[in-house]
Amino acid sequence: MTFEPIGVVHSPFKTIEEMPIQPAGADAVAGTIEIRPDLVEGLRDLDGFSHLFVIYHFHQVRQTQLTVTPFLDTRPHGVFATRAPKRPNPIGLSVVRLAGIEGNLLHIENLDMLEGTPVLDIKPFVPEFDQPEQVRTGWLEAARGRVLNQKSDRRFE
Ligand SMILES: C[S@@+](CC[C@H](N)C(=O)[O-])C[C@H]1O[C@@H](n2cnc3c(N)ncnc32)[C@H](O)[C@@H]1O
Repeated sequence: MTFEPIGVVHSPFKTIEEMPIQPAGADAVAGTIEIRPDLVEGLRDLDGFSHLFVIYHFHQVRQTQLTVTPFLDTRPHGVFATRAPKRPNPIGLSVVRLAGIEGNLLHIENLDMLEGTPVLDIKPFVPEFDQPEQVRTGWLEAARGRVLNQKSDRRFE
């Protein structure tokens, strides 16, 4: 399986230290996604959507870790029960606000991605499709609200 990036993230975060750990903790953080010029046709009608799923490569991750102690707990968990970057396939998923489109540039807000992150795909966020009811959030129930202030350190480098 080989994927080619469709674009690249331009972000104010040049290193992972002290950056947000999720879009929910990155209010008003602005950046862009520069889409490959040959793919611009695929952006048609995206401007009608306020939020996007961005699917990307955690390109600075070098190892897999199947048990991780995530940013929002002091206890270990299986990596698939977390959003930690050191995954067997280091793929990230962020819901960001789409502030505007200029040519091949998507202006986005609520970034939790590093500068230079390769983007694999974008999809419109649709509450009717993507917002289930009666959600349980496992071990994260105990950390509710803390994502707003918790910043990244270098544990997943
Ligand atoms: C906890 S992950 C969550 C990312 C995404 N919202 C998700 O749930 O898949 C966010 C953290 O990943 C790290 N990170 C962000 N971009 C990265 C990249 N391109 N390569 C490696 N680590 C990255 C930073 O430590 C950041 O705080």
